[in-house]
Amino acid sequence: MDATKLRRAIARTPLAPVAAFPGRLARVARYDAKVLRTSARWLATSREHHNYTYELTQLSRQHLTWFVSVVCDVPVARVWGYLAEITGDAALRRHIEQATARSARRGLADRRVRYARRVGWYAIVRATRPAHVVETGTDKGLGSCVLAAALLRNAAEGHPGRLTSLDVNPEAGYLARSAPWSDVVDLVVGDSVTAIATLDRPVDLFLHDSDHSHAHERREFDAVEPKLAPGAVLLTDNVTTTGVLAEHAERTGRRFLAYRETPLDHWYPGDGIGVAW
Ligand SMILES: C[S@@+](CC[C@H](N)C(=O)[O-])C[C@H]1O[C@@H](n2cnc3c(N)ncnc32)[C@H](O)[C@@H]1O
Repeated sequence: MDATKLRRAIARTPLAPVAAFPGRLARVARYDAKVLRTSARWLATSREHHNYTYELTQLSRQHLTWFVSVVCDVPVARVWGYLAEITGDAALRRHIEQATARSARRGLADRRVRYARRVGWYAIVRATRPAHVVETGTDKGLGSCVLAAALLRNAAEGHPGRLTSLDVNPEAGYLARSAPWSDVVDLVVGDSVTAIATLDRPVDLFLHDSDHSHAHERREFDAVEPKLAPGAVLLTDNVTTTGVLAEHAERTGRRFLAYRETPLDHWYPGDGIGVAW
């Protein structure tokens, strides 16, 4: 009996799982060894302990570009242009490097500037030209700077806009306190749900990126609903963990899509962008 016939014969018997075990074990071990190598390299070279930064794989950038193109109904070539704009913004990159090097948290931050999925936020702001963006969860202010850079470009093209960024931590947002980015950013300290209720201008683009519990995310979308401008776009950074925005879209008659990022050379499996519009 030749090898193929023997394998087929074994596959029909109760011995099949035992015979397949070494091959299956080798496949899992190869995958886990790769994760372990990447994790060990990260432990030795990175200082970050949360809100990790990384580049996206080229394939993941391509998927993100098409995601923005479809959601915002703009040609994909234009979205590639937006990604080139933010990744090539040398002034912003230099500012983030220098502000990070001076910050009180510099011991827990990496020097290299990497935006991950935030380049998608940038492209969505460039494509939709919102007058008022609200971001919940400022942290260092990396996302705020990226959003502000998009608003500044929009303003230069005759479409001004401002960002309100909300965080409970009074020290949050230190990257977004320098001009020209600070010219279009209002940093608000306080609980996001409470702060959303006090917003006095319609919101064109809302981004949830604060307390990622299901209950808090849901409270934010419920709180912002009466504050939204017609045609507002809702984003969540929590889409790989909860279905809150998808459920909100269904309840409010919007469309919904999710993009899942793939980090380059990082053990972290990545987050994503959920959008309802
Ligand atoms: C994931 S980080 C935000 C990341 C940021 N958007 C960026 O692009 O890097 C989450 C932030 O949410 C803030 N936060 C947690 N609970 C909050 C709440 N109830 N209201 C407002 N901010 C909150 C934390 O202080 C933290 O800075």
